Amino acid sequence: MSTPKAENIQPAEGKLGVMVVGMGAVATTLIAGVEAVRKGLAKPIGSLTQMGTIRLGKRTDNNTPLIKDFAPLASLDDIVFTGWEIFPEDMYEAAKHAQVLDNDHLNTIKPFLENIKPMPAVFDQHYVKRLNGTHVKTGKNKCDLAQQVIADIQNFKSKVERVVMIWTGSTEIFLEPTAVHQTLVAFEKGLVDNDPAIAPSQIYAYAALKEGIPFANGAPNLTVDLPCMIELSKQTGAPICGKDFKTGQTFIKTVLAPAFKSRMLGVSGWYSTNILGNRDGEVLDDPESFKTKEESKLGVLDYIFQPELYPDLYKDLYHKVRINYYPPRGDNKEGWDNIDIFGWLGYPMQIKVDFLCRDSILAAPLALDLVILLDLAQRTPALKHLGIQEWLSFYFKSPQSAPGLYPEHDLFIQQMKLKNTLRHIMGHELITHLGLEYYD
Ligand SMILES: NC(=O)c1ccc[n+]([C@@H]2O[C@H](COP(=O)([O-])OP(=O)(O)OC[C@H]3O[C@@H](n4cnc5c(N)ncnc54)[C@H](O)[C@@H]3O)[C@@H](O)[C@H]2O)c1
Repeated sequence: MSTPKAENIQPAEGKLGVMVVGMGAVATTLIAGVEAVRKGLAKPIGSLTQMGTIRLGKRTDNNTPLIKDFAPLASLDDIVFTGWEIFPEDMYEAAKHAQVLDNDHLNTIKPFLENIKPMPAVFDQHYVKRLNGTHVKTGKNKCDLAQQVIADIQNFKSKVERVVMIWTGSTEIFLEPTAVHQTLVAFEKGLVDNDPAIAPSQIYAYAALKEGIPFANGAPNLTVDLPCMIELSKQTGAPICGKDFKTGQTFIKTVLAPAFKSRMLGVSGWYSTNILGNRDGEVLDDPESFKTKEESKLGVLDYIFQPELYPDLYKDLYHKVRINYYPPRGDNKEGWDNIDIFGWLGYPMQIKVDFLCRDSILAAPLALDLVILLDLAQRTPALKHLGIQEWLSFYFKSPQSAPGLYPEHDLFIQQMKLKNTLRHIMGHELITHLGLEYYD
């Protein structure tokens, strides 16, 4: 696959260190899953980087390699995990607690999981009301805490070749950008002043970017979607991307909504409700954390339907999203959608979706792809200093795009953007699906 352009990408040699912030259900499912795949006990289903292919050239060329054979991605064998958590349990105990994977899976990799023990976290209950952990750092101010995270990163850096950080921590309370987020100088002063608008997730993100480490956010918190973080990310060449894994209901929503729009079918109402019984569900039971999630979940339809362009079809759409904490189901979420659509001459119809999903089983492969692709971005001169990696929108409920540019939510546009970015950086022709060349 070698082209002159591809040769500019640094090879994925040596160990890739993955620093996970918040080692709960998603994180343990990711870590245990990677080890199970490495041992040949299971397949990495749901991971585009591990199972996906990419077509190169014309349809008649029959050239469709695996993505991992096409682009120089880190191998699963080279991934090393560490992270921070407010509870001191090792990854075996944490995975048992999360109740996602069964004992058969966990027991075969027990020694590996027991060996990964979290570092004390930066935490403040003000930002996640339903949790109260003891395994936390103390410091004289937020700047001191950031320096402690930087020291953790530097220590880990000495053991691996490259590092990526991912937030799989709880959803923090709803925060809006303030003056402290507008520039890096203001943010650094805010750290010293203990500014309340700086949440723990921002402290980790700052530390990562300062150390030149890419950062992904699996939760909907305000974290790197801030001018100061974009500034820092460009400065240190540490890629950032969107937030909140697009796993269950929103994943299906961003498949169905473009289908209705492509056929010019109207939508008058979309009611989405969920029951969820894991720790995430408990955290989201707090109205302030739920508001953060709600904003992230509500955004997608407006962007996809573009009611300003199609007022007859989408102007009056009523969109409601609920999440209800219901312990008996644990991590096995059930999400219902009632969609009121209308067709020719305005005649109404209904669609019901009942998705009995497994939250962390859907999220873990996305987390894996993100760390692998962010590592690729950082080794790629054409991407490293861009700051926001819009081509990773595919993974997020709230994709991040350049300031002033609306985000792309349609899953298939996002997928095309991702694959074309891979073709582009590898020096291959983009695929537009025009297809006229077959009829010359
Ligand atoms: N399908 C999905 O699972 C999915 C989809 C989208 C987003 N998310 C988000 O991903 C995140 C993780 O989900 P989960 O199911 O693993 O939740 P979880 O509650 O099992 O795990 C989160 C962990 O983060 C820890 N934590 C909280 N604040 C921390 C801090 N400041 N530092 C270190 N650790 C901290 C908690 O103690 C907890 O163990 C949540 O925010 C969730 O909303 C999950």
